[in-house]
Amino acid sequence: MKYEQLFKKGKIGRLTLKNRIVMTPMGVSLAGPSGEATEDIIRYYEERAKGGTGLIITEITRIDDETGVGTSNQLAVTDARHIPGLQRLADRIHKYDAKVFVQLHHPGNETYSRLIGGRQIVSASDVVCSVVGEKPRPLSTEEVEAMVKKFIKGAVIAKTAGIDGVEIHAAHGYLLDQFLSPHTNKRTDRYGGSFHNRIRILEEIITGIKYMCGPAFPVSVRISADEFLEDGLHLEDTIKIAKILESYGVDTINVSSGVYDTGATIVEPGYFKQGWKKHLATAIRQNVNVPVIAVNNIKEPNVAEQLLEEGVCDFIGLGRPQLADPAWANKAKCGKDDQIRTCIGCMHCFATLNTGKHIECCVNARTGREAEFTEFNRNGEGKTVAVIGGGPGGMEAARVLAERNYKVVLFEKEAQLGGTLNVADKPLNKEKITVMTNGMAAQLKALNVDVRLNTEATVDMVKQLNPAGVFVACGATPIVPNLPGMDSAKVVKAEDILTGAVKANGSVVVVGSGMTGLETAEKLAVEGHAVNLIEMAKTIGTGIYPSVLMNVVGNIKKHGGNVLPRHQLQAVTADGVVALETLRSQVKVIPADTVVLALGVRPRADLVEQFEEAFEEVRVIGDASKGGRIVEAIKDGYGKAFVF
Ligand SMILES: Cc1cc2nc3c(=O)[nH]c(=O)nc-3n(C[C@H](O)[C@H](O)[C@H](O)COP(=O)(O)O)c2cc1C
Ligand code: SF4
Repeated sequence: MKYEQLFKKGKIGRLTLKNRIVMTPMGVSLAGPSGEATEDIIRYYEERAKGGTGLIITEITRIDDETGVGTSNQLAVTDARHIPGLQRLADRIHKYDAKVFVQLHHPGNETYSRLIGGRQIVSASDVVCSVVGEKPRPLSTEEVEAMVKKFIKGAVIAKTAGIDGVEIHAAHGYLLDQFLSPHTNKRTDRYGGSFHNRIRILEEIITGIKYMCGPAFPVSVRISADEFLEDGLHLEDTIKIAKILESYGVDTINVSSGVYDTGATIVEPGYFKQGWKKHLATAIRQNVNVPVIAVNNIKEPNVAEQLLEEGVCDFIGLGRPQLADPAWANKAKCGKDDQIRTCIGCMHCFATLNTGKHIECCVNARTGREAEFTEFNRNGEGKTVAVIGGGPGGMEAARVLAERNYKVVLFEKEAQLGGTLNVADKPLNKEKITVMTNGMAAQLKALNVDVRLNTEATVDMVKQLNPAGVFVACGATPIVPNLPGMDSAKVVKAEDILTGAVKANGSVVVVGSGMTGLETAEKLAVEGHAVNLIEMAKTIGTGIYPSVLMNVVGNIKKHGGNVLPRHQLQAVTADGVVALETLRSQVKVIPADTVVLALGVRPRADLVEQFEEAFEEVRVIGDASKGGRIVEAIKDGYGKAFVF
C-alpha cells in the first residue's frame, strides 16, 4: 500500500480505529431547528464514512440551549429528544466500519445575542471578542457549576444514542478556552486566577463524564496549542495543559490553534503552507502518552503520510479536504490520489456559514446537499453528449454525465483543460488550484471522457455527433469598457498578465479590485513595478473573505503599491489613466506605462445563441450563462448534468 502509516489501525483509549484519518468537526447548519440530527446531516456524515474516514467528529454540538447556540441549525445534546436522531447517525456511520464522536460545545463570547433570543452573551469574564464585538456577562460560580453538568449530560445523551465517544471543545476561543486563557479569564472565584483554577472547569467536566459514561467511553479534548495572542495561551502553557488533561484521564488530545481574533490560524486561507504549524502538535505529542490528533492545513495524502512518519501526530485531522472530497481516504488508499478533488483554501465554506446558510464547498457542489443529490441516475445508455469548454463548469458537467453512462465528448479550444482555472492558479500561492485542476482532469480520464484539446467546437462539428444534449460551457470574455484610449497599446488584460502572455512595462495602473485585479496588482508589485490599483466602489474587494483580502492588500502595500477606492476610470492617455475621484469630484491623472483591466467578464452570448438555435437540448453553464466564480461554475455544471 502506498500510504502505510495512514492506513494502519490506531487506538483512542480502548476504541480501535481502522485508519489514522479523523474528520475534524465542522459546523454545517444541517440539523433541525431544535438540534435534531436530520436526514440532511446524517447523509452528509454518511458520505464521509463511506469515503473511508476512520473517525468522524461531529460539528460543534450544543450542550446549552439558553446561551450556548453557536450557529443556526446546529446539532444539540441538551435533551433526550436528541437521542433517536443521534442513534440513526451512529448506526449509519457504523455500517462503514467508521466511528463517530460528538463535539460538546459552548461558544461563550464567540456567539451573538441574536442567536440566543436576544440575551446577553456569556463568558468567563467580560472580555470582548473583537470579531463579535458584543460585551459578555461573566457567568456566576453557580452558573459555571450548572454548565459543567450540561457538558456531562451531553456526553451521557451521546453515549445513550450509541455514539462512540465525545470531544470536549476547549479550543478556538470558545467558552472552555475562555476559562483556560489568561486573555479572557479575569475571575477571582475558584474558576479563575491561578493556572489550576483556570483548568478546574475542564477537570470537573472530564471527571464527571468519565464517572457517568465509564472509563471505556473515549474522551477527546480539543485545544488551541497556540492562541497567537500576546496575552493568550502559548505552546509552553498548552504543553502543561495537555499533561494535566492526560492525568484527568482523557484518551486523546486534538491539537488545533487560534481563537476568533486570530481566525486565519484556525481555518487557514489558501496562502498558508501545508504543515505550517506542525511544531505545535509535535511538541504536545512529545509531552503526553495519549495519542494526538492534529490538523495541519493538509490537502494531500503524501503530506499526511509524511507528518505521521515524522511523528507530528498519531491521527491526521482533516477538515476541509473532507468537504472537497468525501472519498479522500478511499482514493488515497487505492492509489487514486491523483483523482482527489483538492480543497483550494478559498474560504467559501466558512463564508457561507457566516451568512447563516448551510455549508457549501466551492469545488464540491454536493457538499451539504447529499440528501438531495443522492445516487447518480445511471440512465445515459451510452448516448452522446457534447460539452463545449473545459473550464470548471464544463469539466464538472462532463464528469457527472460520464458517471451517468453518457458518452461524453468535451471540446476545449486550448491545449489543456482548466479554462479560467489556468488563470486563477497563476497568482502567488495558488498552486492548490493547479492540483485541483489536475484532479478534475484525472477524473475525466478515468471515466474515458473523449477530450478534444486544441479544438474550437463549431455547430457543424457538434452536429456530426448527433448528440442527445449539448452543454455549453464556453466561458466568458474580459470586459473592456467603452472609454477613450482603450485601443492604446498600453492597455492589457489582467488574465494576460497573470498567465505571462503579456509583460507589464514600467509603472502600472490596475483597474478593478475583484480577486483578479488584486492578485494581478500583487504580482506586479512583488515584481517591482510601481502599482496603483483603482476601484470605482467605495470599498476594495467587495465579497472577498476578510483575511484573504487583508493578506493580498497587505502584500500590495508592503511592496510599495497603492489601492485607491472611489476612483472611476475615465480614459487612458499617453501619460496614464484619467480617473475621477468620486468623493471629491476631482479628476486626476495617475501616471502609467501599462494599464491592466480587471473589470470582470461578460458571457459569450453569440456562441451560446448559435448552439441554442441549432440544438434542442442545450444547457448553458458556468461563465457562459453569467459571469461567475469557480463555485458557481461547478455548482451549475454539477446540478444541470445531474438532472439532465
Ligand atoms: C466551515 C468550517 C466549520 C468549522 N467548524 C468547526 C467546529 O464546529 N468545531 C471545531 O472544532 N472546528 C471547526 N472548524 C475547524 C476545523 O475542524 C479545522 O480545524 C480547520 O478547518 C483546519 O483544518 P483543515 O485545514 O483540515 O480544514 C471548522 C472549519 C470550517 C472550514
Ligand atoms: S469551500 Fe474552499 S476552502 Fe472550503 S473546503 Fe471547499 S475548497 Fe476548501
